Amino acid sequence: MTEIVIDHIVKRFGAFTAVDDIAMRFADGEVACLLGPSGCGKTTLMRIIAGLEAPTSGRILFGGRDVTDLPPRKRNVGMVFQYPVMYPTLSVAENIALPLRYDRAVSSVERDRRVDEVLDVLDIRGLAGAFIEELDAGNRQKVAVGRAVARQSEIVLFDEPTTNVEVKAKLALIRAFKAVTQRLRQTIVYVTHDQTEAMTLADRIALMKSGKIMQYDRPQQLYNQPTTEFGGWFLGNPGMNFVPASAEQGRITSVILAEPLAAPAGLPQGAGLTIGIRPELVRMTGAAGPQTVEALLVDQAIGIAGRYLTKARIGDVLVKVNTEGIPPAGVGQKVHLSVPREDLMIFADGSRVGI
Ligand SMILES: Nc1ncnc2c1ncn2[C@@H]1O[C@H](COP(=O)(O)OP(=O)(O)OP(=O)(O)O)[C@@H](O)[C@H]1O
Ligand SMILES: [Mg+2]
Repeated sequence: MTEIVIDHIVKRFGAFTAVDDIAMRFADGEVACLLGPSGCGKTTLMRIIAGLEAPTSGRILFGGRDVTDLPPRKRNVGMVFQYPVMYPTLSVAENIALPLRYDRAVSSVERDRRVDEVLDVLDIRGLAGAFIEELDAGNRQKVAVGRAVARQSEIVLFDEPTTNVEVKAKLALIRAFKAVTQRLRQTIVYVTHDQTEAMTLADRIALMKSGKIMQYDRPQQLYNQPTTEFGGWFLGNPGMNFVPASAEQGRITSVILAEPLAAPAGLPQGAGLTIGIRPELVRMTGAAGPQTVEALLVDQAIGIAGRYLTKARIGDVLVKVNTEGIPPAGVGQKVHLSVPREDLMIFADGSRVGI
């Protein structure tokens, strides 16, 4: 049972707050991804979990045990960072086995068994005898992953391990990573700023911004039900559209709406609301329909994998559209947009309000 509890962790560097009172738990045996833009504090939080950095205040607990004051080597945590330290003159198998050699509780038979298992799951058995310097970046990172997980420490931390790996090798690495985590069920915290990676790997994603956790949820939930504008914007490619709206006498109006919406109870009146809609949920047609609003197509459509990305303008509001069919008009021509009521979100001051 190795749940990680982050108990009101604060980290300041001088006057700057890098981690701003984070309180959360990473569940035992789950893969949690810390996802967020550069500089939001991901690495700092990881270093605090690993014991490489002391928090300004707050505690870290592993399986109920307070480890805040323990040095890294006493925390029994495996780690893989962007540039792993490896021994170029040792073979792949020897690199994976190395940490196990220092562990007296692991017999040589058990050591060989674990190395074998990891080589299989990571699909690098054919490279067992190769030297590290002969490997490309992707396979090198596989070895680093293998070495971290073969120790079978209950917690393994990864900080952007795929950053220096080219796209195709990245997929193989992620696939191997997924296989190894499903097999070994260690508690894993994986830092990335790549949403696709997080969506693929994570049981849960902790979305981070400016030292705070904005939302901690299952990937689909995070994508479909962002609780903040930031979440809607950060996830998705491109991210959510935000269109100004206002509430008056129980009705919400906006240029994206053909008819006013009934405002949820307790919604602040006046301007300053935002309607959020994912580009792939905006419907675009050539002809006007019952719920459509008129727009001008302002961008050349770009086809990607059977879908088209384009932009339309309603007054001075730009709406990104990601459509399955070819757009019904060219740049500068009229189109008609509609947004299904159930696909809309309403935000006030950046936070979602119920609809
Ligand atoms: N030792 C330090 N001294 C001063 N400021 C620091 C220190 N370490 C980190 N910071 C600052 O804290 C903030 C968070 O840094 P951190 O490395 O945790 O971000 P990150 O989310 O990992 O970013 P990236 O995606 O670029 O790796 C940044 O503004 C960084 O400049
Ligand atoms: Mg970082």
